[in-house]
Amino acid sequence: MELILDTANVEAIKYYQQVLTIDGVTTNPTILTKENRDYREVIQEIISVLHEDQSLHIQVVSTDVEGIVKEGKVINQLRKNTYAKIPCTKEGFQAMKQLKQEGYLVTATACYSANQGVLAAKCGVDYIAPYLNRLDNIGVDGVAIIADLVAILDYYGYPTKVVAASFKNAQQALEMMKAGCPAMTIAPEVVDKMMEQSMTDDAVRAFSSDWKKAFNEEGFNW
Ligand code: G3P
Repeated sequence: MELILDTANVEAIKYYQQVLTIDGVTTNPTILTKENRDYREVIQEIISVLHEDQSLHIQVVSTDVEGIVKEGKVINQLRKNTYAKIPCTKEGFQAMKQLKQEGYLVTATACYSANQGVLAAKCGVDYIAPYLNRLDNIGVDGVAIIADLVAILDYYGYPTKVVAASFKNAQQALEMMKAGCPAMTIAPEVVDKMMEQSMTDDAVRAFSSDWKKAFNEEGFNW
């Protein structure tokens, strides 16, 4: 299972690279605006902290086919292993198809249905990012839709990987893993929720206190 960070915050990327095994970084236009700096500077810094084998997914901003294709090519050329994220609009599908025919890396995004996901897979995209929490927010079962998409792509043998996106809690991440979703892109604050468990902290406090009482030492000294 690939764990990708959904952020443009360079400090967060550096931190989680030390703490966990991170497979890449995704951004979108909104995420990049949150850094309150020029997006080119932010992207250059993200590139400088990523290892060669970690993927980077950057979203196009144009909405017409020609503009999407042009930006998609620029994004691919920033660095190896860099994917142009393209929303699942009609223009987006056309651009995805064209870019894949020319051998570029593409991640379909802003996917709100299994149908859109399958059509993107048929355009040959490498990843498809359905928005789990945003689906839940409009009153449909995001887990079920993404589980359907994972199963359909597997059934037909498409190599496209589903990278579930838009998480608000750790339970949603667990549901995606139970559905066999091959990749997830998660914001740092939700990755924290996956790691944290107050009972683990309570247990560690008790271990430390018992040790100190018995041996009057803070650590394991040999
Ligand atoms: O990568 C897509 C994702 O950023 C959308 O997440 O939290 O804005 O719904 P969110």
